[in-house]
Amino acid sequence: MSNGSPFFITTPIFYVNDVPHIGHAYTEVAADVLARWHRQAGDDTWLLTGTDEHGQKILRTATANGVTPREWADKLVEEAWLPMLKTLDIRNDDFIRTTDDRHGKNVKKFLQHLYDGGHIYAGEFEALYCVGCEEFKPDSEIVMGTGEYEGVKVCAIHSKPLELLQEKNYFFRMSDFQDRLLALYEERPDFIQPASARNEVIAFVQQGLKDLSISRSSFDWGITIPWDSTHVTYVWFDALLNYITAVGYGENEEEFSRRWPARHIVGKDILRFHAVIWPAMLMAAGIEVPKSVFAHGWLLVGGEKMSKSKLTGIAPNEITDTFGSDAFRYYFSRAISFGQDGSFSWEDLNARYHAELANGFGNLASRVLAMNARYYSGSIPSPGTITDADREIQSIAERAAIEANKAIEAFQIHEALAHVWTVVDALNGYITDQEPWALAKDESARERLGTVLYTATEGLRVLAVLLSPVIPRATEKLWAALNAESALGALVEQNIRNAGIWGQLPPGNPVEALEVLFPRVESSS
Ligand code: MSP
Repeated sequence: MSNGSPFFITTPIFYVNDVPHIGHAYTEVAADVLARWHRQAGDDTWLLTGTDEHGQKILRTATANGVTPREWADKLVEEAWLPMLKTLDIRNDDFIRTTDDRHGKNVKKFLQHLYDGGHIYAGEFEALYCVGCEEFKPDSEIVMGTGEYEGVKVCAIHSKPLELLQEKNYFFRMSDFQDRLLALYEERPDFIQPASARNEVIAFVQQGLKDLSISRSSFDWGITIPWDSTHVTYVWFDALLNYITAVGYGENEEEFSRRWPARHIVGKDILRFHAVIWPAMLMAAGIEVPKSVFAHGWLLVGGEKMSKSKLTGIAPNEITDTFGSDAFRYYFSRAISFGQDGSFSWEDLNARYHAELANGFGNLASRVLAMNARYYSGSIPSPGTITDADREIQSIAERAAIEANKAIEAFQIHEALAHVWTVVDALNGYITDQEPWALAKDESARERLGTVLYTATEGLRVLAVLLSPVIPRATEKLWAALNAESALGALVEQNIRNAGIWGQLPPGNPVEALEVLFPRVESSS
C-alpha cells in the first residue's frame, strides 16, 4: 500500500433512471486519468464512483417499467453502469450505491447529528420542483416554455414543466452558513475551480442563501428521516453524503481520516450542490470541507448539451466499438479544455485518431522498434557520442514530464497531454532529420546509428510512462515490446514524476516488433 500523500478523487454518482451516455463517460474518464496519474506518482490514491438511486425520478421510471425502484436500480447498475466502467477501463477503487446499507445507516447518523445540533427544523413549503434536476428551482432557472409547453413555466435546463409542490418539510438552516461559505471561497481561492465557476458561485451566495428543504413526504423511495418515519431524505442531501459514507464516516474512523477530504470532479450543472450545499452540510456537522470542487464543462452535440432526454445521447460503446477505449480516453482528454464546454463530432474524433494516435504516436513506436529489430537484431544499441540534436530530445522529454505533472496537479488534463505530445512531435522530427535508414547503409556511421536508435527508443520509454494513465492498453503493449518489465518493473509501477529522467532503458535490452497500436478506421460515409 502506498504511503504517499493522500489523493481522494470522486465522480458524481449517476442517476440510474437511464443508461450512460458519453457525457457521463467523460466525467469518469477525466477522474480516472487524474487518479491513475496520482497513483502512478505514489500518492495514496482512491477513486470513488457510484450510483444515485433514490428520489422521484427513479421511482417514476421504475413504476413506468412495472418494477420496484430497487429492481430497476439493480438492473441498471448490473447491465449498464458497471459495464460502462469496464468499457472505458476505469480503475475505480470503490463503487457506492446509495441503496447500500453502509450508506443508508450513516446518512441517518449524519441527519440525527444535525438535528440534535439544532440545524434542522420543520416548516411548510410551496415551490416549483424539477424532477429532472431533483431540485426546487430558483427564479433564475425558471423560464417560460415554448412549443408544446407554451405559456407554462419550465426548467431552464430540461425545458420540461415544473411541478408545484406543497408539503410539510424538514429544513436545513443553510442560511446560517452564508458568511462562512463566502469566507471559505475568499480564503481558499482554489476551493472552486476553474475561476469562472468560482465567480458564479460567489455571486450566487452573495445574493443570499435560503434554508434547504431536506425531506419529502409524498413518496417513500428514499432514506427514512430517523426521527420521523413519514418522511424520506431529499435525494441530493442523501447523494452528497456518499462521499463520506463510502470512506468510513460513522463507522471506520481510521479509514475516514486516511481518505477525507476529497477532490470532487463534477459537471458545471451540479456545481452549486457541491460548492454551496455540501460544504454547508459539512460545516454544520463539524467535518472538514472538501479539498476542492472542479467543475468541467458540457459535451455539446450540434451546439446543445448532449442528453438522452433531448435525444442527442451517444452511448460510449458507439465510440469504443470502432475506435477502442484508449482512443475514447485520449480524445476526450485532449480535445476538450477541462473546465470548458466542448463540441463532440465524429469528424474531429476520426481526424485526431488518425493524425495523433495512429500516425503521430502509433507509427512512431512501430517504426522505432522495427529499426531496432532490423539493424540491431532486436536489442537496443548503446548510445555513443551525444550531439545537440540528441540532447534536445532529452531536454524536451525532461521538460514535458515536469510540465505535464504540473498541469495534472492543476486539473489541466488537456494541457498535460499537449506537453506530452511535444515529445511525440520532437521524436518524429528527430527521426526525419537523423535518417537512421541512411546511417544504416554506412558502416562508418554505426556508432551514430546506435545513438539515434537509443535516443528514439528511450523516448518511447518516456512516452509509455507519461501516456499510461490516458491510453493504458496501448502503452502496456509498448512496454511489453520494449521488454521493459524485466529491466524496470511493471509499467504501472513506474514513478510518473520521474518519467523524464533520461537513460533508464538499459542498452542491450531485447526488444520486439510491435503490432499496430491504432489501426486505421475506414470511414463509413
Ligand atoms: N445524481 C446526480 C449527482 C449526484 S453527486 C452527489 C447527477 N447525476 S447525473 O447522472 O444526472 O449526472 C452525472 C454527471 O454527468 C454530472 O456531472 C453531469 O454534469 C454529467 N453530464 C451529464 N450530461 C453531460 C454532458 N452532456 N456533458 C458533460 N457532462 C454531462 O447529476
